[in-house]
Amino acid sequence: MLQDSFGRRFYYLRLSVTDICNYRCNYCLPEGIGCGRSLEGEKPLTVDEVATVVRAFASLGTEKVRLTGGEPSLRKDLVPLLEAVRASDRIRRLAITTNGYRLPSQIDDWHRAGLDQINISIDSLDPARFHHITGHDRLDKALSGLERALALGVDAKVNAVLLREYNFSELDNFLAWIRETPVTLRFIELMRTGDNREFFASNHVAGTDIETMLVREGWQQVIRTRDAGPAREYFHPDYAGRIGLITPYSKDFCASCNRLRVSAQGKLHLCLFADQGFDMREMIAAGDSDALAAHIRELIGGKSAGHELHEGFTGATRNLAMLGG
Ligand code: 5AD
Ligand code: SF4
Repeated sequence: MLQDSFGRRFYYLRLSVTDICNYRCNYCLPEGIGCGRSLEGEKPLTVDEVATVVRAFASLGTEKVRLTGGEPSLRKDLVPLLEAVRASDRIRRLAITTNGYRLPSQIDDWHRAGLDQINISIDSLDPARFHHITGHDRLDKALSGLERALALGVDAKVNAVLLREYNFSELDNFLAWIRETPVTLRFIELMRTGDNREFFASNHVAGTDIETMLVREGWQQVIRTRDAGPAREYFHPDYAGRIGLITPYSKDFCASCNRLRVSAQGKLHLCLFADQGFDMREMIAAGDSDALAAHIRELIGGKSAGHELHEGFTGATRNLAMLGG
């Protein structure tokens, strides 16, 4: 089993399949990327290469894979990519993170390819505000896609980044929505990246303040599974949905880290905010998953105890489109 020098085990791989995104979320890519341009300027991992990466991680004990981006649905071969992950029988959970714009037309195909779980970014339930935050007037697409995913029995979560100036006032609205809607709504505390320093200063809200309020109103914490994401989840008997809180600035956030990241170009990132990724492309392209697994095991030894976001260090991470959240 993959384990670092702090005894953390890594059941969960977040695999980016493109660093391109078609949205311009104001906290991530306010200027957009430019049509079809990759941030790194290199070709993303092919279907065969993804299969090699997944085989290597599966042999090291990984049980869950999430495809992220950028926006993964911009890959025309997303269905073969999903199938390539599914082909590894040790991977018990296959998930994807998406901005939702292609969901209504594609969720049926993804479901057929074996998708178990989906995270959709919906930062506002108000169409105009959604447009303002993301640069696109497409709230309806994300919501109808979500509805279809639920109808198919796909486990669906909604991500909303907490933003003081844009959606903080909508908290009651969000809560009213999950009274009847059986999704986990995850409030993500805004993280400072290399590109969003000023925006961060005026928009960061501490998720723990919201947590205190929820507990006061009778919300209770759900017990974590070993391949769970970073959210602390809460349920309430009067609500069909749940609430998750992701608070990267809270004490001990990194102590329960169970995930590793591979970029769209095949670099292993030991932390979202690491100084550098380790380039594994050549080894991945060679297709020898045993050799790759041995190499990954060696690299894991170097994972540090935690990020240094509190001190203002954001590592090499200019924005989260580079690596997925
Ligand atoms: N801070 C917090 N969350 C972010 N995301 C993107 N950039 C940031 C940031 N700076 C979120 C997206 C998406 C998830 C993958 O990460 O909104 O829901
Ligand atoms: Fe928005 Fe995600 Fe695209 Fe960044 S990568 S602009 S957060 S949709």
